[in-house]
Amino acid sequence: MLAIIGGSGLTGLVNMKVTRRLVMRTPYGEPSGALTFGKIRGHEVIFLARHGYAHTIPPHDVNYRANIWALSSQNASHVVSIASVGGIRSDLAPGSLVIPDQIIDYTHGRKSTFFDTREKPVTHTDFTEPYCEDLRQRCIKAAALCGKQVSNGGVYAATQGPRLESAAEINRLERDGADMVGMTGMPEAILAREMGLCYAAIAVVANYAAGRGSSLHAVKLEDVNAVLMAAMGQVREILESLAEIHGD
Ligand code: HPA
Repeated sequence: MLAIIGGSGLTGLVNMKVTRRLVMRTPYGEPSGALTFGKIRGHEVIFLARHGYAHTIPPHDVNYRANIWALSSQNASHVVSIASVGGIRSDLAPGSLVIPDQIIDYTHGRKSTFFDTREKPVTHTDFTEPYCEDLRQRCIKAAALCGKQVSNGGVYAATQGPRLESAAEINRLERDGADMVGMTGMPEAILAREMGLCYAAIAVVANYAAGRGSSLHAVKLEDVNAVLMAAMGQVREILESLAEIHGD
């Protein structure tokens, strides 16, 4: 079954016919909120708001393990993450949509593995290609089917937050090869991989990253919401197509 983790600007799906909500406890604590079960265009999906339904959980405090464990326990096989980002690459203007294909992790202090106890053998998980190529291609196809433009590929830099970056930090991320910057891509992607889930992201460019374009002297947060609201309309349409391609 397809699961959708909604980020900033996407705490619910108007196009989803909700059938039930499930409050869960997991061995890792509580997920960000109840899992919402329902249908999009007649196809079963599970939705979870990463920052909680009232958007109160900051990126460094999200219980990523509980979220991924909960979705997996309810038979999610595929997870598509909706994540807002700052655009570093010059063509990634606010409002652009990207299906990233690589990750650099700059986060710290987050619980980033399920294999951290002495009862489990030491496990090193392959992460050469951090996103599931099959689901990435389906997201691209879904966008094409509903006439939305998405950039295929890009390096997602995951920063700790909740503060935004300095201009020098963005320059460094660019030198490292990053195309976009967000705060929630990790450890979500590796935890999904550890659980054997097929995981991909639709990154929504909310603003130019610090020091770039209209964010030359500051990231104007008052503009970010309007950009996200407009872009999420497009994301909802892509998700409708994706649910249809995916089936049940
Ligand atoms: N930096 C980090 N995370 C973000 C940004 C940003 O500029 N915009 C949206 N999420």
